Amino acid sequence: MGLIKIQTVMNTELGKRCILSRPPEPPHQFVLNDLTSALYIGNTKIFGVPFTWSLYNVTNPHICVVGITGAGKSFFVKTFLLRASYIWNTNAVIIDWAGEYKAWVKQAGGIVVELGKGAYLNIMDLGGMRPLDRTKQIMTSLQILTDIAEFPEQMRLTEEAIEQTYLNAGFRLAERPDQNKDAPTLKNVIALLQERLQEGNYPYPAELENAIYRLRQFAREGEDFFARKSTIDIGSLTTSGLVDIDLSGLPDEKFRALASLFILQTLKERMRMEGWSSEKGIKTFVVLDEAWKVASDDRSDAITIIREGRKYQFGLIVASQNPTDINETIFSNVGTNIILRVRFERFLDYIQGSLNFSEFMRREISKFGVGQAAVNMSFQTNIQFPDTFLLNKVVGEVPLDTYSFNITSILSNDELASGTIEKEFIFEKPDLTAMFININFSTDIIDSIFKALDAKGREVDIKDLATTLLGIGVSKENITNLLRNFGMPDFLISRMFMQLGV
Ligand SMILES: Nc1ncnc2c1ncn2[C@@H]1O[C@H](COP(=O)(O)OP(=O)(O)OP(=O)(O)O)[C@@H](O)[C@H]1O
Ligand SMILES: [Mg+2]
Repeated sequence: MGLIKIQTVMNTELGKRCILSRPPEPPHQFVLNDLTSALYIGNTKIFGVPFTWSLYNVTNPHICVVGITGAGKSFFVKTFLLRASYIWNTNAVIIDWAGEYKAWVKQAGGIVVELGKGAYLNIMDLGGMRPLDRTKQIMTSLQILTDIAEFPEQMRLTEEAIEQTYLNAGFRLAERPDQNKDAPTLKNVIALLQERLQEGNYPYPAELENAIYRLRQFAREGEDFFARKSTIDIGSLTTSGLVDIDLSGLPDEKFRALASLFILQTLKERMRMEGWSSEKGIKTFVVLDEAWKVASDDRSDAITIIREGRKYQFGLIVASQNPTDINETIFSNVGTNIILRVRFERFLDYIQGSLNFSEFMRREISKFGVGQAAVNMSFQTNIQFPDTFLLNKVVGEVPLDTYSFNITSILSNDELASGTIEKEFIFEKPDLTAMFININFSTDIIDSIFKALDAKGREVDIKDLATTLLGIGVSKENITNLLRNFGMPDFLISRMFMQLGV
């Protein structure tokens, strides 16, 4: 009797004391690495050790970031990418579902590709690949995004037509293409299928019609974002510094997913083509933020990058509000998991089940404030220690207050597509203030302008700005001067006033 009692007490006591009997953080030598080759993230919560992320003690460079909206996922990713670029000159390609990184990337001097707002990607572009391989990739994307897999005859017809289109354009299916030759587009594939339909001797015309119909949804006038000549050089994406592929201008999830799949396929191919170099660190990080369809499907190349990335110095960063949207293979194979605030029990169950951390840790995670995190790492070692530990806070570069003014609402389609017209003007608060002072705005006026801009989320249509300024009594001449200072051409300034009826 007595014995049993003692044991019960000991068990519960031990449970509570686990934190004392076994240090809840990995030994310092795993957490604190040489600062010239590791990225500082923040200090550990219990021992206050600076945690620096090193590529050399973790099993692979890939990272998952999970947490509810506002928990600090994008903030972590930005901080991480900046530091990686300082240390290793790492390139990054951000597949930006919601356009969250755009302003930051512009500010950091990177390239923003705004799909659906003037930028096009031809999904038949080869970027150095063999037409045969690209055809397979396009078919995979169609299988992920449409019901084509249920119709073998239509699969065959579509695949054949894509290959034939390459042949007609003078490509050889099994050879790497001549760099300067323009790839055909989906419109050519559709035309080819239509010809076959018109010839009238194909025994199953309904199959042909359906195959055409399915492709057409990606080639309709005004929605042909992937069926025109590319406006960017996809072959150089991985070596262009910081690149943001802004998908927020595309009409729906299907288009966004198609863009993401295509870009991942291209990146995977580049990764294999470029091979390994003796340079240190990571060459390119690919970021998937909220691209759930792409992160969850087994056939997506996100999985290939996870499997092969380490040997080619490619890293994948996947961020999501919902951990169950991330493919199990990704989730359980990344070297680093950054867990920010997670509230839903179901998600906590899933993460705890996969990463196997204590109840203590689970409680802490559900109480996190913005930027607080638990880190789980697969270290390359045989030494036993807890591999999940708490960070006080992700310490980032202080975000600057930026204001952006968008002029797309006054542009024609041709101007939208042109690469030479600036479509958005972004300024940091001090610079914008200086411009206002230049035009002799009083402090009161400047305050009320900023109030109005802050209320609109600091991303404002140019007409909105003009209306706001007119509303507080700023003259047309002064607005003109201000917009000239922004760098807006005179003909667009007059057009804007005309559209406003001023
Ligand atoms: N570690 C941090 N230190 C200081 N500020 C932070 C930190 N993490 C996040 N923030 C701020 O909190 C806000 C929300 O962060 P963030 O946009 O990264 O959230 P998120 O998890 O990406 O949300 P969503 O799922 O909606 O995209 C931002 O204004 C960001 O600057
Ligand atoms: Mg975010």
